[in-house]
Amino acid sequence: MLNKIGVIGGGFIGGVLVQEIAQRRLAREVGLSDPAPFINPDDSPERQEVLKKQGVAAGKCLDIAEGLPTLRSDVKVHGSKDYSAIEGAELIINTAGVPRKARPDGTFPTREELLTINLKVTNQVAEGIKQNCPDATIISIANPLDAIVYTLNKRLNPPKNKLMGMAGVLDSGRYCYFVAEAANVSVENVNAVVLGGHGDTMVPVRSSCLIAGIPVQEFLDEETLKAIEARTRKAGGEVVGLLGFGSAFASPAWSALEMAEAIIFDKRKIMPVCAKLEGEYGENGMFVGVPGIIGKNGVEKVIQLNLTDEEKAAFAHSAGAVRKTCNEVDEMLKTL
Ligand code: APR
Repeated sequence: MLNKIGVIGGGFIGGVLVQEIAQRRLAREVGLSDPAPFINPDDSPERQEVLKKQGVAAGKCLDIAEGLPTLRSDVKVHGSKDYSAIEGAELIINTAGVPRKARPDGTFPTREELLTINLKVTNQVAEGIKQNCPDATIISIANPLDAIVYTLNKRLNPPKNKLMGMAGVLDSGRYCYFVAEAANVSVENVNAVVLGGHGDTMVPVRSSCLIAGIPVQEFLDEETLKAIEARTRKAGGEVVGLLGFGSAFASPAWSALEMAEAIIFDKRKIMPVCAKLEGEYGENGMFVGVPGIIGKNGVEKVIQLNLTDEEKAAFAHSAGAVRKTCNEVDEMLKTL
């Protein structure tokens, strides 16, 4: 159990995180920071006064706290409109940002299109962490995932083991789910990993996909596997298209908690993580999804997989897409 976990962004994912942290008793205290509802300077002064008194973070936390006697949990839960609620946190989970929402015509913006707005948000988040919990280990979920982690690194420059992004656990979970469904076996039997950037170029690694230790090709034919891999790459969008009001929230929250638990309980669990590469997989200075050992020190080691030539090329392509976005970030940050 930690003393304190801070959650930044109290939307759909942030809400699930706070509930689960309290229910699983992962820390003695959890603080949630979210400026919503935002005050619009064009609103009447009366309306602005009302909005000043409202707080999504405080409201969600009070709701959860009032349910804790039922769960017999003494975890302290509190929220704030500024970043004071995360003061002293040892672990931060960042969900602040604007998610992909379906447009009226049913299409939705790519993660990269949300870059501009989410960079501004990330600058504020970084400042909040710097002021309130500069030594915290950070798991970031906000999209575009790899670019936001890169931005947090630029703004905070933490030791590389203490900053990571959550995407691979979710993408791998989706891959496993589709494989288990197609093979008609328990999800517990499927082991698979998805590497690379958290976008359309991500790499479901077929050579590491096993059902009870047996290569997946012994259960599913080439056509089915290709369809599953394509669906995995677009799985986030599939949920966005169905929901119509935002993006996936239960599975991303649970995935981040899988990483948080590996840190809190020093599990040294191997899972895909968006981590800083310094020569591994031929990349330098980028944050890209790779398998890592996660323990009390955060990302304790990056694991080099023996990829096939095809997988190596797909990973290089994906890392190239991440690099392109990070170059855009470098330019945009000069003006923000
Ligand atoms: N600081 C803290 N919180 C902020 C800030 C900020 N500067 N700006 C916005 N937020 C808050 C919003 O007020 C909102 O409550 O972040 C929250 C985001 O919540 P949702 O819109 O419900 O989004 P959610 O589904 O939780 O996803 C959060 O994770 O998977 C990604 O693409 C997703 O980037 C998105 C993030």
